[in-house]
Amino acid sequence: MPRKEKAVLVTGGAGYIGSHTVRQLVEHHRDCGVVVLDTLERGHAESILDPEVKLFTGDMADQEVVEEVFTTFQIEAVIHFAAYTYVGESVTEPLKYYRNNTAAPLTILEAMQRHGCKQFIFSSTAATYGNPVATPITEEHPQQPINPYGASKLMLEQIIRDCESAWGLRAVFLRYFNASGCAPDAAIGEDHDPETHLIPLILMAISGERENITVFGENYETPDGTCVRDYIHVLDLANAHLKALDYLDKGGATVACNLGTGKGVSVREMLAIAEAVTGTKVPVVYGERRPGDPAELVADPARAKAILGWEAEYTDVTEIVATAWKWMTGPAKGRYTNVKR
Ligand code: UFG
Repeated sequence: MPRKEKAVLVTGGAGYIGSHTVRQLVEHHRDCGVVVLDTLERGHAESILDPEVKLFTGDMADQEVVEEVFTTFQIEAVIHFAAYTYVGESVTEPLKYYRNNTAAPLTILEAMQRHGCKQFIFSSTAATYGNPVATPITEEHPQQPINPYGASKLMLEQIIRDCESAWGLRAVFLRYFNASGCAPDAAIGEDHDPETHLIPLILMAISGERENITVFGENYETPDGTCVRDYIHVLDLANAHLKALDYLDKGGATVACNLGTGKGVSVREMLAIAEAVTGTKVPVVYGERRPGDPAELVADPARAKAILGWEAEYTDVTEIVATAWKWMTGPAKGRYTNVKR
């Protein structure tokens, strides 16, 4: 029987963070192929630029397609992005989140166990911490999520730890803060439908795609009254996955790492930055607080540096916003469709 090609499986590899990671894997992780499993329900086939990347269009809960992936390729490690990510939607449709974010990945984990694949990199989130009791947030901060999205991710962390005890799975939980920006060449980028994230919404208000941007609350206990977040560039996030792969390859034990810059930016500051980048005034409306928004979420990223040797390179938010603006005004965004290939 011919030897199977070695590959890294990326679930959700046609999504925003997934597609940027797939691109970096292709460029830098050359001793192994890259396989994507994505439903394309919220991802875009066009975001996978390299024709060498094998795309399986299917659901990670579907045992048949998952088995096909694991029998066609020798999967060395799984990078697991596939998930629903809207906090608001998770509150109104919790079961959808528990099914897709907590239950569906069990099919992947079962296949990993069957095929002896023991390395897992998991897109976890700052939302697993809930309302911060201390800031900046370290990985030791209590994990008390305040919405089903955060809870659905935290449950998978627990499941993975149980798999570690039972059959030796090793994992890196990457707890993202606010993913932002796009590939600097604007060949791939961020395209959510509906869009709920601050930076693209501000830029859409600037470009005229939306009438205005509503600032959710201006009476928070923060220096300027608006919420503070830690915006981390998507390329920095992608790079952390490559470092996590190396860490697991070298035999590293299961660990959780925050991915942020350690620097907070308020909504009001972000408006000013976007105006400076685009040279255009943002039409702003001030509204009520959005339920479930903590005043401040800022990472302590020290552990990621100590353990993975990872550090954010995009530390200037102006540069991050500039990459998002280049994508939004460039030609590639218009090529994104939801047509399955
Ligand atoms: N905001 C506005 N107006 C908007 C949209 C957002 O003022 O129209 C504010 C929010 O109140 C928040 C900040 O901008 O203070 C950032 O909001 P985003 O929706 O861009 O991001 P979140 O911080 O809510 O969410 C992000 C990820 C989630 C993750 C969460 C962790 O998108 O997946 O961080 O708390 F769960």
